[in-house]
Amino acid sequence: MSIRKVAVLGSTGSVGKQALEIIDARPDLELHSILCRRNIGLLLQQKEKFLPSISAIVSPEGNIPPDIIKGAEVLDQAVEGADIVLNAIVGSAGLRASILCQKLDIPLALANKESLVIGGELLRDHLKAGKVIPVDSEHSTIERCLQSEKRPVRGITLTASGGSVLLMPIDEIRTAGPERILKHPTWEMGARITVDSATMVNKAYEVIEAGWLFENIPVEVVIHPQSIVHSFIRLEDGSWKALLGQPDMRIPIQFALEWPDRELDVIAGDKPFDWGTLAFSRMDEERYPAFNTVVQTGIDGKTFPAVANAADEVAVQAFLDGRILFGNIAEIIDEVLSLHRSYHIRSLEDVLEADRNARTVAAGIVSKLC
Ligand SMILES: NC(=O)c1ccc[n+]([C@@H]2O[C@H](COP(=O)([O-])OP(=O)(O)OC[C@H]3O[C@@H](n4cnc5c(N)ncnc54)[C@H](OP(=O)(O)O)[C@@H]3O)[C@@H](O)[C@H]2O)c1
Repeated sequence: MSIRKVAVLGSTGSVGKQALEIIDARPDLELHSILCRRNIGLLLQQKEKFLPSISAIVSPEGNIPPDIIKGAEVLDQAVEGADIVLNAIVGSAGLRASILCQKLDIPLALANKESLVIGGELLRDHLKAGKVIPVDSEHSTIERCLQSEKRPVRGITLTASGGSVLLMPIDEIRTAGPERILKHPTWEMGARITVDSATMVNKAYEVIEAGWLFENIPVEVVIHPQSIVHSFIRLEDGSWKALLGQPDMRIPIQFALEWPDRELDVIAGDKPFDWGTLAFSRMDEERYPAFNTVVQTGIDGKTFPAVANAADEVAVQAFLDGRILFGNIAEIIDEVLSLHRSYHIRSLEDVLEADRNARTVAAGIVSKLC
C-alpha cells in the first residue's frame, strides 16, 4: 500500500474537517498540508494532531506562531509536494488553487465548485486529463454511475433538497432571516453554501459544474427533499441509475481521495428501511428566482458566471450580516449581471478582474439597500 500525501485547502471548513476525519481513519493517507483563511485556533489544533509538513494561513490576524506559513507564497507551498489536493476553499478564492494543481499536474479533488463555475475555461487541460475528481456529492454520484457504463447515456438528473425554503409559505421567503435560512433540512454545511441551497444558486452552479465535468450530457434538476438519492443518470433505454444513502460528505470525500480505484472503507451504515418515503417533484421556479438566471450565465459563458458568483458572494455575506433581505440576493445578482459588459476568459486575471468589478457594483447596490 503506497502512502498518498494529501493537501487539504480549507481544512477548517465543513468539507475540510470531514476530510481530516477520513485521513485520520486511513493509514494509506497522510496529511501533507493544511491551509485556511484566518481560523488560527482550529488550524493549530489540526497541526498538533496531524503534524502536517506545512500549516499555512492566508489572512493572518494577531500573533501567529513562526512555524505557521503566511505571506504571498502560502498556496504554492501548501500544494507543492502533495500527491493529491483537496480544494475545499469556499468561493472564487479557490480558483487559483485549482489552476495551480493543473500547472503542477497534481490530481485535484474538487469541492470548490466555484473553480469550474467561474474558471472552467482555464481548467480544460486538467479536465481533459481526467484529473479533476468531483467531491460534490451529486457529481461524485454521477462519476460513479458513469464508471461502469459502456454505452452513451441520455442525461444527468441532479437532485436538490430545496433547502430551507422548500416548505416555507411563499410570502415569507423574501423576509426570512438568517436563522431560518441557515436551517438546512438534510445537510450540515458552511454558511455560504447553505444560503446558496435556499436560493438554488448552489444547484445552478452544480448544473454548470456538471457541464464541465460531463461534457455533452444534458443536465436537469429534480426536487428530492430527503437527499437520499444523490442524483441519477438516465441510460440509453430510458431506465435510471443512482447512488443512494443518508447524506454524508465523507463518502464522496473518501471516494475522491482514493481515486481512481483504491480500496474504500465502509462509512455508511444505513438500510433502505431507514430512508422512509422518497419523494420527487418539479422545481417551483417562483420560489427560486435566482436559479434560471445563474444557469443562463453558464450557457452564455464568458465572464457572466464569474460576475454572478461575485454578486452572490457579496449579497450572501450582506444577508448573513443582517444588512439586506433574503429576497434581495436574487435581485442583486440580476442587477449586477444586467450592468456587466462581458468578455472572453483567457487568463486568471480576466476572471479576477470581472470578479473585482462585480463585487464593487454589488457592494454599491447593497449600500443603497441598507
Ligand atoms: N459543506 C458541504 O457539505 C459541501 C458540499 C459540497 C460542496 N461544497 C463546496 O466546498 C467548498 C467549501 O465549502 P464548506 O461548506 O466546507 O465551506 P466553509 O465551511 O465555509 O469552509 C471554507 C474553508 O475555506 C477557507 N477559506 C475561505 N476563504 C479562503 C481563502 N481566501 N483562502 C484560503 N482558504 C479560504 C476557510 O478558512 P477559515 O475557516 O479560516 O475562514 C475554511 O477553511 C465550497 O465551494 C462549497 O460549495 C461543500
